Amino acid sequence: MHIRPRRLRATASMRRMATEHQLTPANLIAPIFIIEGEQIREEISSMPGYYRYSLDLALNEIAELKEMGVPAVLLFVKVDDGLKDNKGSEAVNPDGLMQRSIRAIKKAVSDITVMTDVALDPYSSYGHDGIVEDGEIVNDRTVQVLAQMAVSHAQAGADAVAPSDMMDGRVAAIREALEISGHPNTAIMAYSAKYASCFYGPFRDALDSAPGFGDKKTYQMNPANIREAIRETLLDIEEGADIVMVKPGVPYLDVVRAIREVADIPVAAYHVSGEYAMIKAASAKGWLNQDQAIMETMLSFRRAGADLIATYFCRDVIRLLKNS
Ligand code: PBG
Repeated sequence: MHIRPRRLRATASMRRMATEHQLTPANLIAPIFIIEGEQIREEISSMPGYYRYSLDLALNEIAELKEMGVPAVLLFVKVDDGLKDNKGSEAVNPDGLMQRSIRAIKKAVSDITVMTDVALDPYSSYGHDGIVEDGEIVNDRTVQVLAQMAVSHAQAGADAVAPSDMMDGRVAAIREALEISGHPNTAIMAYSAKYASCFYGPFRDALDSAPGFGDKKTYQMNPANIREAIRETLLDIEEGADIVMVKPGVPYLDVVRAIREVADIPVAAYHVSGEYAMIKAASAKGWLNQDQAIMETMLSFRRAGADLIATYFCRDVIRLLKNS
């Protein structure tokens, strides 16, 4: 026998040389949950070890992440019930929690990319990503509000807006609105292939944003489909997306790969709240080694072709990269 693949695995240095994919802090995007108040750091019960922060404490957290080498944060806000309606009024409020947070972060932390979630669900009295009429989530009126919302984030200083709503035509409308309002450099990271998934459960606890009726299947994608994911992604690229994203992550690595093959712009994958919760729960029970599970998961994203990974494990990944 002359061919022995194990030769390349025989020693640690040989294994290092034969390593095909790298993971660095520059691949990471840290989601941040912000709430009203001061000096608040609340653990999310279905996401042990992950917190909602009041803005003052969020600033410290973000400054630390930046020091650790994380290039971007993705902001989500929890909106008081009294401010929710069916029009997204609070979503476009120039003094809303999101807009205030963007301004404060841009002022306090230099050179971090601030990305913002653009969708109506945290602001919606129905918990849906769009405006509801006769029990339906209407597309075109929602898209108008999303475009205003994106402009208000850009005005506050956001570097990138991230529409996560899955309405048709929203990337084009947001791009157009950003150009017209004088924000040509605000990027769009489009959630292009976002599936109707049970893995968002803990996130909806974090923001109290679960749909009040029905589900999200008329706008988020059917888990059975992959050709549709490519179609959605190509449309978003044509409409002006700068980065495209697949979500959730691990159950959809085939989609990440397929999109990597057709996209000539950065591809992101979102390791979502339920995926975080699974690793946390199994390792709390002693059934998985948490650190190994995290790194193996992150490498799977890189192998599938993701340039960027949005994950609640940023701090752990960086600690593990340092020790490796
Ligand atoms: C809002 C939004 C969701 C997530 C990101 N943006 C929830 C949803 O669509 O219901 C999920 C993120 C996660 O689960 O980590 N449109």
